Amino acid sequence: MSAAVENQRTVEIELVNGHGGADPRKWEDLFLPTPLKLENRLRAQKIEARLSKLMLCGSTLRRVAEVFEKEIEAGLRQQPSSLQMENTYVPELPDGTEEGSFLALDLGGTNFRVLFLELKAGQLLREKVKHYHINDALRLGPGEDLFNFLADCVQDFLVSQSMEKETFSLGFTFSFPMRQHSISSGELITWTKSFNCGGMDGVDVAALLQRCLSARSLDVTVRVLLNDTTGTLVAGAHIDRNVGIGVILGTGSNGCYMERASRVLHWERPHSAVHDVCIDIEWGAFGDNGCLDFLRTEFDDEVDAKSLLVASFTFEKYIGGKYLGDLLTFTLSALARDGLFPADPNFRKLQTSHVSLFEEESCAGEVSRTLSALREACNSDLLSTADALVAQYVAHVISNRAAQLVSVCISTLLKRMDRPYVAVAVDGSVFKHHPRIAKLMNKYIALLAPAHQFSLMIAEDGSGKGSALTAAIAARMATRGVARL
Ligand code: BGC
Repeated sequence: MSAAVENQRTVEIELVNGHGGADPRKWEDLFLPTPLKLENRLRAQKIEARLSKLMLCGSTLRRVAEVFEKEIEAGLRQQPSSLQMENTYVPELPDGTEEGSFLALDLGGTNFRVLFLELKAGQLLREKVKHYHINDALRLGPGEDLFNFLADCVQDFLVSQSMEKETFSLGFTFSFPMRQHSISSGELITWTKSFNCGGMDGVDVAALLQRCLSARSLDVTVRVLLNDTTGTLVAGAHIDRNVGIGVILGTGSNGCYMERASRVLHWERPHSAVHDVCIDIEWGAFGDNGCLDFLRTEFDDEVDAKSLLVASFTFEKYIGGKYLGDLLTFTLSALARDGLFPADPNFRKLQTSHVSLFEEESCAGEVSRTLSALREACNSDLLSTADALVAQYVAHVISNRAAQLVSVCISTLLKRMDRPYVAVAVDGSVFKHHPRIAKLMNKYIALLAPAHQFSLMIAEDGSGKGSALTAAIAARMATRGVARL
């Protein structure tokens, strides 16, 4: 039985056992986090009350889903929306005929990767990869400097492989919101995560990269420009043809899916033969127009105020790994202000890895590592086992909300696509390292889209392998004489 079918069964059993269906309040309850169990019942009740705005019930999630659907429609129609709904011009997924040698670049985090990949009959035969660190000066300085550095890295990589005289097609995974004009061109809309380079307004990032590569006399042509979600979808579809959605749940978060071409208004290329096309939603910006203000808490306000790019990427700040550690910190600080927690964690001492650690220990019924991490973060020896349980509870509440919100997006897409079964390819550090996020997502997606069969699968390295596969798809279409998208 597939994982999706198992999910479906589990939820059906819960419903039959009286947790849903007939009594709507019971269905609502299925979304609540596990209650806080402390010997001091009064303290537990006060903490639960203080965090109640972070606990979303079923009807709130349905409201988020309705808003998401409206924003999707508006975005596709090019009406005002917080969702970019960008046409990626990727109309085909792998079919096992992908061939050739490609370079792939992966830019999105503090590490930049250059990859060489060789494909034969859709299979990866050979792969070489080199990582380069992108320092603060490059991430926050002039865009030209960053792109010159990227080209230097490509040159260094090729020299290290003795391939600097060879000819290559390149797939550029640029994990930021773009306005795409074709499969190989697009402008940055805004930086996100930890990047904020100047001088990039209206600049085509593929053309800029091409210029920097050509200036180094490298015979490398940028053939495709893609987002990491697109790469993840493509890499996932290479493993399972049922993949129709790609999701990143890592430092940042985003999703893409295969949409009917007829529902997409933004086309700058002839597309009469295109049936479906991959749409990059850019759900990190969901709510930037205020449409999700009903969810926002004072803790979110603090996370936003302390972020690099204030008042943007609202949704990403609820779910992205870049922000969950700050959310844990500010929530514990608020409890400390109210006398419900003994100490204030120092800013940026608790990271998203701590959210995962606290959740992991909570699942195992342990507290020792939680306690020592808290003592270090708060610079205090005053913390007790009960305090560690409180911190684990906060980590659980914010993880639960993150899982719920991503699940709203995925379940809305499942309904929209309305296929008998859709596999969802997921990548990203939060999905891979958080001990219960996948389980929570399976549960919530099934509760929110009970009539739709799905499974979540890990699709690793969409930014590398997916990029090379996309370049191979573009090459395959060109040899078939399909008009260039
Ligand atoms: C970017 C997206 C990207 C996501 C995951 C977000 O901050 O806007 O384009 O897909 O991070 O890397």
